Amino acid sequence: MDKLVIEGGIPLQGEVAVSGSKNAALPALAACLLTSDRVILNRIPQVRDIGTMLGLVRHIGAEVSVKGDRVTIRAANLEHPEAPYELVKTMRASSLVLGPLVGRCGRARVSLPGGCAIGARPINLHVSGLERLGAEVRQEHGYIEANASNGLQGANVQFDRISVTGTEDLLMAAVLARGETVIGNAAREPEVADLAALLTAMGAKIEGAGTSTIRVQGVAKLGGAEHTIIPDRIETGTFLIGGALTAGDLTVRGCVPEHLRALIAKLQQAGVEVTEPSPDTLRVRVPGRLKNVDITTEEHPGFATDLQAQFMALMTQAAGISFVTETIFENRFMHAQELARMGANIRLEGRQAIVAGPTPLSGAQVIASDLRASASLVLAGLAARGETVIDRVYHIDRGYEKIESKLAGVGARIRRIE
Ligand code: EPZ
Repeated sequence: MDKLVIEGGIPLQGEVAVSGSKNAALPALAACLLTSDRVILNRIPQVRDIGTMLGLVRHIGAEVSVKGDRVTIRAANLEHPEAPYELVKTMRASSLVLGPLVGRCGRARVSLPGGCAIGARPINLHVSGLERLGAEVRQEHGYIEANASNGLQGANVQFDRISVTGTEDLLMAAVLARGETVIGNAAREPEVADLAALLTAMGAKIEGAGTSTIRVQGVAKLGGAEHTIIPDRIETGTFLIGGALTAGDLTVRGCVPEHLRALIAKLQQAGVEVTEPSPDTLRVRVPGRLKNVDITTEEHPGFATDLQAQFMALMTQAAGISFVTETIFENRFMHAQELARMGANIRLEGRQAIVAGPTPLSGAQVIASDLRASASLVLAGLAARGETVIDRVYHIDRGYEKIESKLAGVGARIRRIE
């Protein structure tokens, strides 16, 4: 198992480029199943989860070709409209093929994801949404079997709770349903709007994507398209926080500042100077001492849960007490114990972590548990005195493209050992 070895205490300086968004690319790859024509996707990040999704669409029957960050998919014959357990257990987002398969083939057999490190991760909202569109869904042997032999019928679907991939799954089912579908309490993440842009390029009729109400007029067929995936706002935020935590001077290029307003505001409250030198760059510097700031994770446009762990690492260096409240997932504080082993002072009370700082961080051997917790350990290692060794680095590779070369490019002393 790979490890990352980091020699901390060096400020990140210079410019780093972000890759395409993993969480926009995953639904986009699933959307290719909705047409037998060729779809070209650009700026696809080369990360493990994308590899898993490409394996899944190939298993279903699509032809896939990859050249650098360009992926071409042609889902002419879908012999196996299913997502087997071996694939789904490694990536919950495999459930994103449920909607496209029911919409295109009238049936789907998808393994239940099972829990993961950060929580139970059920897909009940995906299932009830499909049932509203007329699918018959039953659960057997750990699989969801969905059938809509005479197609799907548009309907009003109100999500009990906001779900990003639940909204995306349903959107991909609705585009080929008969009549109109209105999705209420829809997720407003930029990745939902990016998926809608791709579907629209394929011929879908969608209004309101990116707001909490999405209106879809079903069409009989979708065609091919070419689409460039939006930049990864979580990778962007991770680097910005890293620049602040190492008291460096870091510019992140190729990003969308508009996607990060909540983080930018919190960084500024914490005394970080955040500027926008050009429409697609953000720059961070820390003129003085870091101040304690409270964050509560919320659905977009609130503070992203995927940046909570990274921000917690930053707050270990801020003077005073910071309250970090996680409202989206039930178990997303795994990084706290590992940060504590590096010297952080963090107390967990249910959905809240109480961080008292600043406490000097010293390098240690730590273990990654989930994608974003691992990112926070990398950032802490960059700021810590001495050497940090992070085990189970495959978690990081799920969502960060070439992380050690990107960080080394802005001064970090970081290397991967087999
Ligand atoms: C997406 O996961 C992201 N993944 C996650 O990013 C992100 O943390 C999450 O949204 C929240 O922003 C992708 O887009 C591939 P949800 P998703 O459905 O869609 C509960 C990362 O690090 N829920 O919005 O699975 C659920 O348990 C990953 O890149 C149900 O109860 O999240 C959670 O508590 C981690 N029933 C809450 O809703 C359902 O049917 C929000 O989950 C679905 C969800």
